[in-house]
Amino acid sequence: MGDYGNKLSWAVGKKLVLCVGTTTIDFVSTTRTFPEENKYDKAIGGYWMRGGNASNNCTVLSNLGVKVEFFGMLSSLAMFQVLVDDLKARGIIVENCPTCDQNAPFASVILTKSTKTRNIVYCNSNFPHVGIDDFRKLDLSKYGWIHMRALNFESTMAMIAELTAYNATREEKIVVSLEFDHNLDEMWKLMDYCDYAIFSKQLAQPNGWLSLEDACLQLDERLRMRWGLNLKRPYVVVLWGDQGAGIMDLAGNYTHAQPYKPKRIVDALGAGDTFVGAFIYALYIRNRSLPVAVDFGNRMASFKCTKNGYDHIASILLPPVL
Ligand code: FRU
Repeated sequence: MGDYGNKLSWAVGKKLVLCVGTTTIDFVSTTRTFPEENKYDKAIGGYWMRGGNASNNCTVLSNLGVKVEFFGMLSSLAMFQVLVDDLKARGIIVENCPTCDQNAPFASVILTKSTKTRNIVYCNSNFPHVGIDDFRKLDLSKYGWIHMRALNFESTMAMIAELTAYNATREEKIVVSLEFDHNLDEMWKLMDYCDYAIFSKQLAQPNGWLSLEDACLQLDERLRMRWGLNLKRPYVVVLWGDQGAGIMDLAGNYTHAQPYKPKRIVDALGAGDTFVGAFIYALYIRNRSLPVAVDFGNRMASFKCTKNGYDHIASILLPPVL
């Protein structure tokens, strides 16, 4: 079987996947132990690459053979053209992205070998988000799935309302997934408009979620407390790192999706983004059920951690060499 043959054919006939969010530069250093304050430390390895949640989702999807578009603000400054060049070189569509002349966001990442942890210091200096005016320029008939990160409430709400209005007029609807990883109270209203809601473990501490199951129970309670007869309820997925994920169906039934322990942990940066890309792939491109898609996302997130970056992940699709 050719490496790319099947991969591409699985996506044939599917409309584009659009990922809305940010693209950044990640500067990643691997250290033996976590750096002490006020000390000079030498990394034992390192690399820099394009990062950012939506941008990473696109990389994962495109590596799985999916036609994908990134929609986020780009910087027109020369030093950030590496981001655009890399997106384009991978066939990720960027033609609808607005640009501005500010420095793009970047992240300083430390991967600590002894503790197998990753720390991210993110710097965005008020880099603008894409807004409704940019979104209205998109030809929505091209997309089959739109994934958004709940970043800025006003603009995300406006875009999702536009999308809901579009879907209301169509037989063939665009599937909408949303990722929540900060300011849940502020973003909560967005829950009424999506088909799939994915929650990050980062929300546990600020929201008093004690465990994966507790997070799902609390989310379920909150969903049941909403007013309104026509309020849609999304499928809920809660990511909980090395404990796997929680799934809640439309009736609020909870199931636990087991984690997969990576053979070795080299680089956990972007494991959550890999989950999201793989999850969309399994549901949308391969028409799998929700539990199967979450299981696949968990496997892929774990496999991602065995190497730097995302370029090895598609090999999981290949049959083992006998
Ligand atoms: C990983 C990541 C990085 C980025 C950071 C910012 O999940 O997407 O690529 O720098 O998160 O949120």
